[in-house]
Amino acid sequence: MSLVNRRRRSRAVGLPALLAGALALALATTLAGGPATAAQQSTLHELAAAQGKYFGSATDNPELPDAAYAATLGSEFGQITPGNSMKWDTTEPARGQFNFAKGDVITDFAQQHGQIVRGHTLVWHSQLPGWVGALPSDQVETAMTDHITAEATHYRGAVAAWDVVNEMFNEDGTYRTSPFYTAMGKDYIATALRAAHAADPDAKLYLNDYNVEGLGAKSDAMYALAKELLADGVPLDGIGMQAHLAVQYGFPYRMQANMERFAALGLDVAVTELDVRMQLPADATKVASQSSYYAQVVDACLAVRRCVGITVWDYTDKYSWVPDTFPGEGAANLYDENLQPKPALASVRAALGAEDGGGDPGEPGEPGTLKALYRSSDSSATDNQIKPGLQLVNTGGTAVALSDVTVRYWFSSESGAATYRTWCDWSPLGCGTVTHRVAAAGTPAAGADHYLEVGFGSGSLAPGASTGEIQLRLNKTDWSNFDESDDYSHSTGTTYSDADRIAVYVGGELVWGVEP
Ligand code: G3I
Repeated sequence: MSLVNRRRRSRAVGLPALLAGALALALATTLAGGPATAAQQSTLHELAAAQGKYFGSATDNPELPDAAYAATLGSEFGQITPGNSMKWDTTEPARGQFNFAKGDVITDFAQQHGQIVRGHTLVWHSQLPGWVGALPSDQVETAMTDHITAEATHYRGAVAAWDVVNEMFNEDGTYRTSPFYTAMGKDYIATALRAAHAADPDAKLYLNDYNVEGLGAKSDAMYALAKELLADGVPLDGIGMQAHLAVQYGFPYRMQANMERFAALGLDVAVTELDVRMQLPADATKVASQSSYYAQVVDACLAVRRCVGITVWDYTDKYSWVPDTFPGEGAANLYDENLQPKPALASVRAALGAEDGGGDPGEPGEPGTLKALYRSSDSSATDNQIKPGLQLVNTGGTAVALSDVTVRYWFSSESGAATYRTWCDWSPLGCGTVTHRVAAAGTPAAGADHYLEVGFGSGSLAPGASTGEIQLRLNKTDWSNFDESDDYSHSTGTTYSDADRIAVYVGGELVWGVEP
């Protein structure tokens, strides 16, 4: 256990160096030629860095032994924030007894992965050890400045930006009561910023709060405070907008305009804790709203030069704080509990300018990038095989990585075996690159208790291009008959035509067709 304030010797990974590295990588990828495949796909941070921003994630010590989790954390994100390990209850549980061991694990991880660190947080009413609240009023200021001095000194060179004071306002814009406010009034904020600056003159110093993303009483209070602090010469570099959003409460009112007014004061802004929760269970409408909210946050940040970056409050539902705090709510993150990408991820990628078929920025889920054409190659609708013929056409303006694409053709299983064989009989792409399987529908509907799912191992579809005809075939393992006449995706046409009962997904997001 480390109980001392030791000066970090680790080299700082500065934002400019990090962005330059990502830009060089993007350029090298372009020069290597050819459209990006899944393996070459730019990371979230590379996409953001190409626009002069970082893209980061919160993390926490208990999560890091999860190797799959840590791999994505280390590769996809250019910035990390410790969710708990730099808070006061962890770093100074007893007065003068400092323990930076957990935070050091986070800064070491960041250094190993070329990431910048946002330090969170020096002064907060929550996760505050009991001894602070028990102090006589006249000792609180010294305790606070001692704490800031010790922690900001320890992490000098390893933390690029600090949330110096966290969550200082009530919803109506009045100051939140805390041991600090009670002892010092609102001046505790200026005092905290000055102490942090003295300890680490190179760190960017932020005030951070939730529900300050849009215009409103709370962000008005933050704006008035920021203006006053700057007028008084207090060291303040930026405003952190946590952005814990929920689809049931609507998107913050005029987020971009709100960011712009802080930028006009000469401040940076950062989205520091983004997630978008919903009441469970999730459904298509909530998922579409969530994707849209994520994209709108990215759009706002990209539109404001002083918005330096976006941090998601962890990237996976597996480690979200939401279900513990809001029972019945969740599914708030970009990846699901199995670390699989969700539609919101494709939406964020598209908003960041990825040319991988994620959809139009700001209009996630809008059909039109790909369309499916279908014909039945089957002379009998009541024999023991189903033979869909399929073509995909890129109707958008950018290339689509086929490895991001899946297609679903729904049918009813009738009686007989519940296991299937599937086949690709012909594809100009080569059947070796076409994947196919049958799965049971999660929610069986009329004529649609199973679906044939088709995917691609590699390849890219240029704007206007077609995959050409892909001849598919399936049978039950007992070779019993089907009756395709009432199957959801079936039709009797023998020439190719648009098929809106076949669904096409890019990055997991529905871009064509109507699900049963
Ligand atoms: O460490 C103990 C563990 O020993 C114990 O067994 C367990 C039992 O519940 O609790 C563990 O502590 C939990 C801690 O996270 C570490 O996992 C606390 O109960 C739990 O309350 C705490 O939640 C954190 C929360 O802040 C506390 O307010 C979340 O992880 C953290 O993501 C969250 O982050 C905050 C930001 O700091 C500020 N903005 C809002 C955001 C979400 O609430």
